[in-house]
Amino acid sequence: MIIIKSQAEINKIAAACRIVAEVLGNVKSLVTAGVSTAEIEAFAEAQIRNMKAIPAFKGYRGYPASICVSLNDQVVHGIPSPKVKLKNGDIVSVDLGVLLDGFYGDGAMTIPVGDVSGVSAKLIRVTEEALYAGIEKSVIGNRVSDISAAIQQHVEANGFSVVRAFVGHGIGRSLHEEPQVPNFGRPGQGSRLKEGMTLAIEPMVNTDSPDVKILDDGWTAVTADGGLSAHFEHTIVITKKRPKILTKF
Ligand code: MF3
Ligand code: CO
Repeated sequence: MIIIKSQAEINKIAAACRIVAEVLGNVKSLVTAGVSTAEIEAFAEAQIRNMKAIPAFKGYRGYPASICVSLNDQVVHGIPSPKVKLKNGDIVSVDLGVLLDGFYGDGAMTIPVGDVSGVSAKLIRVTEEALYAGIEKSVIGNRVSDISAAIQQHVEANGFSVVRAFVGHGIGRSLHEEPQVPNFGRPGQGSRLKEGMTLAIEPMVNTDSPDVKILDDGWTAVTADGGLSAHFEHTIVITKKRPKILTKF
C-alpha cells in the first residue's frame, strides 16, 4: 500500500530531508585526497546527531555504519573504514539517511576527488541528470515506471547502464515504503502517482555492465566487471504543481 502523506507529515519529512541535504553539502566540502572514509562517517554522524536526528542506516538490517561511502567500482553500501583513504581521481558516493521526529529523509551524491578522468566526470553528470529526468516525470497522473523509463533512457542514450539490483522507494515513517521505484522499465506501468506521495528516487549508473556483486563483508556492492559507478538520490514529494525536491542542497 502506498501511503499518501498529509501536509503535517510532509513537513516532518521535509525537516528530516533538510538535515540530509545540509550534511551532504558539508561532506562535499570535506572530500579531498587523503581523507579516510571513516573520517567522513565520523564527520557526518556528529553533524546528524548535533541536529538532533538519528542516522537512519546504523543498525538497519545490521548495517554497521551511519552512512554509506562507495568508491569508484563500488555501487552502493560501501562501509566506511580508516584504511580507505580518498585519492586524487577517485569518485566517491555518499548515501545518507536520517530519522527525525518519526520520519525519514534519504539522499545521496557522487563527488569527484580532485581531478577526475573525462569518463568519471561524464558518469557523475549523466547520473545526476538521470535523477532529474526521473523527477520531472514525478507528476500527478503519471505512473511509477514513467520515472523509471526516463532514467533508463537518459542513461543509455549516454552509453552507460542502469543497475537493476537496487531500486528507489517510497519513504515516510519507514525508510523503505511502497512503491519500489526501479531505474529501468517500460513507461506506463505500476501505480499511478498522486499528490502527497513521497519518493526516494536513486539511479545507480555504471560505465559498463549493469551487473553487480556483493563483497564478502555482506554489504559492499561492486560492479561485476570493475567498471565505475555513480549514485544520486533525492527525496521528493508529488504536488499539484511541480515535484518538490526535499533534499536539495
Ligand atoms: N539509500 C539506500 C536505500 O535506500 C541506503 C540504505 S543503506 C543501508 O536503500 F545501509 F541502510 F542498508
Ligand atoms: Co534510498
